Amino acid sequence: MAARPIIIDTDPGQDDAVAILLALASPELDVLGLTTVAGNVPLHLTSRNALMVCELAGRPDLPVFAGCDRPLLRRLVTAEHIHGRTGLDGPDLPEPSMALRPGHAVDWLVETLMAAREGEVTLCPLGPLTNVALALAREPRIASRIREIVLMGGGFFEGGNITPAAEFNIHVDPHAAAAVLGSGVPVVMMPLDVTHKVLTSRVRLDRFRALGNRAGPAVAALLDFFERYDEAKYGSDGGPLHDPCTVAYLLRPELFAGRRVNVAVETASELTMGMTVVDWWRVTARPANALVMRDVDAQGFFDLLFERIARLP
Ligand code: RIB
Ligand code: CA
Repeated sequence: MAARPIIIDTDPGQDDAVAILLALASPELDVLGLTTVAGNVPLHLTSRNALMVCELAGRPDLPVFAGCDRPLLRRLVTAEHIHGRTGLDGPDLPEPSMALRPGHAVDWLVETLMAAREGEVTLCPLGPLTNVALALAREPRIASRIREIVLMGGGFFEGGNITPAAEFNIHVDPHAAAAVLGSGVPVVMMPLDVTHKVLTSRVRLDRFRALGNRAGPAVAALLDFFERYDEAKYGSDGGPLHDPCTVAYLLRPELFAGRRVNVAVETASELTMGMTVVDWWRVTARPANALVMRDVDAQGFFDLLFERIARLP
């Protein structure tokens, strides 16, 4: 079977890095390229980090394009308090020797999707949805070329993480999220309700550390840093591995369970800005616009992750 073409839109971020490594280690997926967006840290750092992750994976050939450096309308909010000053604190990785491709990520997204067949390409947004929303606004015809958008973002029963009501990716650019969810493109949403069920833990980090390659210990160092904030906040053993849930779904969808329902985004109230209002019990007539995941086989997720990260250099 031909590998599934995907594009990862990302704001690395330690958990983004693990998602990218998982995708690049999986022959079922044909990663056409990465597009970077401002989010966890400013754009120049998310772009640098994306290049470093490609080189860690032994993929200096992979096209990486820098995208939007701020949300559509709102001021950029970043998360150095979680990801560190560089956004990839933890391991001592070398500065990238590969370069960004010339041109803006949104232009590359439009060109690539317009050259694709109907429903051919899957998008995996792992950060604020600014690039994806702008590409859809620039050229609405790309919507028919997108097979589905499998995104990490939102939260409902679990509440928010950057505010009591909103998850970071959606809160940073709620207008972009509303546009993507209103685009008619099939969306699979990995909210905090499911990502908070895949926690790293000491034992799991030790298993990454012992993989015997370069990537395993680097993942352990990335997650060792990344999990500190959530461990302190939630009192948990380990932190949630948000972004890899998207790629794991593409590889083994049976690990996840959810419901196709309506998701609306708050874009008016400052109190709940970026809240994803999930009509889980279908009490409104709003159309189902997303497959919202709520449960996951956590051990199956980590077994997949270990097996694939072990394949990397
Ligand atoms: O709320 C978690 C999300 O925000 C993850 O994608 C993390 O990388 C940050 O982008
Ligand atoms: Ca991210």
